[in-house]
Amino acid sequence: MSEKKLDVICLGAAVVDIPLRPVSRDMFDIESYPVDKIAMTVGGDAMNEATIISRLGFKTGIIACIGDDAAGQFILRSCKKDNIDVEGIKIDPNIDTSMNIGLVTEDGERTFVTNRNGSLWKENIEHVDFEKMKQAKILSLASIFNCPLLDGKALVEIFKVAKAEGMTITADMIKPRLGETLDDIKEALSYVDYFFPNFDEACLMTGETDEAKVADVLYNCGVKNVVMKIGKRGCYIRNADGAMIVPACKGVTAIDTIGAGDNFASGFISAILQGKNIRECGVYANCTAAISVQHTGATSGVQNKEMVEEMLAKYHRDYIL
Ligand code: ADP
Ligand code: NA
Repeated sequence: MSEKKLDVICLGAAVVDIPLRPVSRDMFDIESYPVDKIAMTVGGDAMNEATIISRLGFKTGIIACIGDDAAGQFILRSCKKDNIDVEGIKIDPNIDTSMNIGLVTEDGERTFVTNRNGSLWKENIEHVDFEKMKQAKILSLASIFNCPLLDGKALVEIFKVAKAEGMTITADMIKPRLGETLDDIKEALSYVDYFFPNFDEACLMTGETDEAKVADVLYNCGVKNVVMKIGKRGCYIRNADGAMIVPACKGVTAIDTIGAGDNFASGFISAILQGKNIRECGVYANCTAAISVQHTGATSGVQNKEMVEEMLAKYHRDYIL
């Protein structure tokens, strides 16, 4: 095969988050409400994944749509800083870049204020630059259901093109926003080489609650490798060779699991690119996610490959004993 320009292309959402903390439930009783910090951060599944994969040393691009606005420029600037190829980002002057205001109380309760007309809700197959996509070895569909217009039918169309190019396809998911079911994505899943749902999402999709059964249902949809995230227990992998659990890193105190899933997928994809076997990919993914959960936010933990390698060395010491 001809030399590929990119290792990975991440397709999905690139948004701006504005976390506000600490706030209290009676904030409307106060005329001007002070918080410790107000700052924009980049977010969105594709943005988070691309950022981490790029930091882990791979040539990474994003396919997403943003508006012709300040939030969109902020995203582009962040991509530049993290060495992410932005040729696949479509600036659509008719939409506003999605911004999420996160309100977090002292004791960790949270809610989000989101724009129901933002780019996340408007992104569709027309925004997908197929020529850009074909430049990569791996297509990562950052999360099924995150951009609702990228529905099962659109994904089948996209995945067919990727497969015709010999690309590996990975996909994460979030809980459906519009009541979609497994039937809606079954055909799309049959193209997926590595699928990264977490256990709750996978239960919801399959209607099963037993780990093995949940994974079997997804495997029987044609997913080559079901890689189910099971929180502090690590991940459960089901493929043609059977099933195994790859345990999580020991001795980790999780302070913020936001973006843990994105970091897990990023680690896993980076390990595939390093030619590791599936168990080693699971270990590498667990190590990447473990760093993430010890920091606030999705991209403030993992800064470089050395951090993951250090965690990996500790992992192997912990599990040999
Ligand atoms: P999601 O963030 O998608 O809900 P999980 O909560 O299952 O997914 O977490 C993703 C990954 O983060 C896990 O598979 C695991 O590798 C890692 N992880 C989460 N919590 C912990 C923890 N307490 N200790 C070590 N690793 C963790
Ligand atoms: Na997730």
